[in-house]
Amino acid sequence: MKFYFAPMEGITTYIYRNAHHKHYGGIEKYYAPFVSPGPDQGISMKEAKDVLPEKNTGIPMIPQIMTNRSVDFIKACQVMQNLGYKELNFNLGCPSGTVVSKKKGSGFLAYPDDLNRFLEEVFNDPMIVNKEVEISIKTRTGKVNQEEWPRLMEIYNQYPMKELIIHPRIRQDFYKNTPSWECFAHAVEISKVPLVFNGDIFRVPEFLAFVEQFPQIDAIMLGRGIIRNPELAERLFELYDENGTISEESKAAAKADVFDKKRFRVFHDELIAEYRDYMYGEKPVLYKMKELWFYMMSMFPENGKLEKKIKKTHSLDEYLSYVDELMV
Ligand SMILES: Cc1cc2nc3c(=O)[nH]c(=O)nc-3n(C[C@H](O)[C@H](O)[C@H](O)COP(=O)(O)O)c2cc1C
Repeated sequence: MKFYFAPMEGITTYIYRNAHHKHYGGIEKYYAPFVSPGPDQGISMKEAKDVLPEKNTGIPMIPQIMTNRSVDFIKACQVMQNLGYKELNFNLGCPSGTVVSKKKGSGFLAYPDDLNRFLEEVFNDPMIVNKEVEISIKTRTGKVNQEEWPRLMEIYNQYPMKELIIHPRIRQDFYKNTPSWECFAHAVEISKVPLVFNGDIFRVPEFLAFVEQFPQIDAIMLGRGIIRNPELAERLFELYDENGTISEESKAAAKADVFDKKRFRVFHDELIAEYRDYMYGEKPVLYKMKELWFYMMSMFPENGKLEKKIKKTHSLDEYLSYVDELMV
């Protein structure tokens, strides 16, 4: 099984990716949050910074592009190719209102004919035809309802993409409700392109249920689960024996939420140090760390009071004293 680290805007920054890659294993590829090229300005300097090779040294990283204009997509591909990237991902999943209203991200899914034309133009560009860069797609299964999915799958099936990463929720779900394994099963049945599953694999039991239902799938993208427990991919790897199978003993021995607090602390402190270096003042650093605790806190279920304190504090020293208490 291959594990990919999902892109999460504001969370999986190059600082986070570097720290994770240094302290934890198990990730085959890290996807950077989207850059959104405009018609004239191309990719902004701020966005480009996150994907600069010198900020991502040694990390197998895939930049992600979000647009609905093939010219802009191809221009962005050229920029990324010049930076040395050979694989790029196209965002068809972002549910945010400002994105969707511009017919981008999951908003583009509501216009299948336009999407088809876009993909036709992109996949006929010489750079893509000659595989100077390869394109993967990360998609939801519809904008308003799952009935949109068969048509979208029909469209995707026509193009020689590297991988199709499916987060089987519709835009309307945002991150609520349950990913539709039914939609994913439909893709598995008819897909001509390699598939990757993404959605709600947070712990060992969900992973085991997934591999039981979809034994033919060999790549999973992990998002919130791995922010919650940065060891998650390593824990899932450990389930396999040397023949690449998961034995009944290994299933029985699997502990849902094992993680090493000391290691976590070193990782955490490196994030703080790097963000302090990068940002001006304590507040933005605290804000970044609080965003992470939104996901990480459930690894410390017995510490509800500290969670509230971490949320409320405005001082980095105070924050660190609460983290000390959590780590005992
Ligand atoms: C805060 C946040 C930011 C995200 N940013 C992006 C993004 O930039 N590009 C993208 O394709 N998906 C983005 N996603 C979606 C995730 O990549 C992933 O598809 C989603 O979290 C479901 O996977 P999970 O259940 O493993 O977390 C974001 C999700 C969250 C919660």
